[in-house]
Amino acid sequence: MALLIKNIKQLVQVETGIPKKWVAGKEMATLDVVNDAFLFIEEGKIAAFGTMKSMPEHSHWWDNKEVEVIDAKGKFVLPSFVDSHTHLVYPASREIEYVDKIKGLSYEEIARRGGGILNSAKKMQELSEEELLRDALTRLDEIIAYGTGAVEIKSGYGLSFDSELKMLRVIKKLKALTPLTIKSTFLGAHAVPAEYKGRQRDYVDLVINEMLPQVALEGLADYIDVFCDKGFFTVEDTERILEAGLQYGMQGKIHANELDFSGGVQAGVKYNALSVDHLEYVGDDEIRALQGSRTMPTILPGAAFFLGMVYAPVRKMIDAGLPVAMASDFNPGSSPSGNMQFILSMASIAYKLLPEEGINATTINTAYAMDVSDQLGSIAVGKKANVYITKEMPSLEYLPYYYGVNKVDTVILNGEVIGK
Ligand code: NIG
Ligand code: FE
Repeated sequence: MALLIKNIKQLVQVETGIPKKWVAGKEMATLDVVNDAFLFIEEGKIAAFGTMKSMPEHSHWWDNKEVEVIDAKGKFVLPSFVDSHTHLVYPASREIEYVDKIKGLSYEEIARRGGGILNSAKKMQELSEEELLRDALTRLDEIIAYGTGAVEIKSGYGLSFDSELKMLRVIKKLKALTPLTIKSTFLGAHAVPAEYKGRQRDYVDLVINEMLPQVALEGLADYIDVFCDKGFFTVEDTERILEAGLQYGMQGKIHANELDFSGGVQAGVKYNALSVDHLEYVGDDEIRALQGSRTMPTILPGAAFFLGMVYAPVRKMIDAGLPVAMASDFNPGSSPSGNMQFILSMASIAYKLLPEEGINATTINTAYAMDVSDQLGSIAVGKKANVYITKEMPSLEYLPYYYGVNKVDTVILNGEVIGK
């Protein structure tokens, strides 16, 4: 059925010309809007939009059709958030380590004590696909309610041939079961499993020579990831994995420079990664590497906040003309929340982004970072109708400002109102 949303206080992030792939530098502070607007959706796509005054000129779209009408008086309509980096398929929460962290243990200490990612990997072996699927679906419902319309999900809590494939098969099922747009990423090199301690190269061989070919054979992953950082995988490991991924048509989306200047940013750019993510440690060399590249620098404010890390130098990156994307990193260890409204608030609170910059960072730029910016990330004719209607709000700035509560009133995915 077709859907007409009218009397919208403000329709945000509209595009009329050739749709952008991303926005960078100064341009990040601009956001096109239509005040007192309508939006018409048909067959799951955005068909028309404009001012209420111009609505009669567009009525040929809906005359003599069955149309559901929503009155959005006092409310804003935005493109759904695109969350381009999550680990939301996981076996169990890890609040015990959270308390350990409160007591002062560092992320690396916890990892060394067999906690962290390895702890999740142990539990992953015990869970069935059905159990993983059920829990992941609950989390997906949660993020849908907070306005997310597309999400990337990684493996990486398996760390063995069987468990990595199990995770990826679950993600494949999720793609078919939810209205969200989902991309999957193979993260076999998330951590060196306990049985490979001291034999990191052998584990990388396993990832490249055994896991990856099977992942490709079953069509289980769109992208490939490596945790390129101090105490995890080296630049050499990363380059081997990125190169192998490319041979199977999987572009990189890597974890880099969270714990140190790891060389991961340069390695990602060298292998034309779609994104390099985390980036707490970014200096002039990293910025120079990213300039002119097609790799989206992606910041994960939830993890930096939750772990109490230094914040990435986002303003410096934007001033250098770079685009910046921001995603949730939803995972049980370092960012146990997939709430993109919180990420938008963090963009302003912790990184001093203007609301417009934050919206660009969490919509069109994250859409690029999961290669869906031709379908999602803005309100443009022909794009997928994944949008949300806010509750009544005094201004757009209120969205990041009034943090911690859900400002989403109605979610529309593929042109359908969700939860009705
Ligand atoms: O993105 N940095 C590496 N991986 C995850 C953490 C995963 C975990 O602790 O379970 C991240 O923050
Ligand atoms: Fe991550």
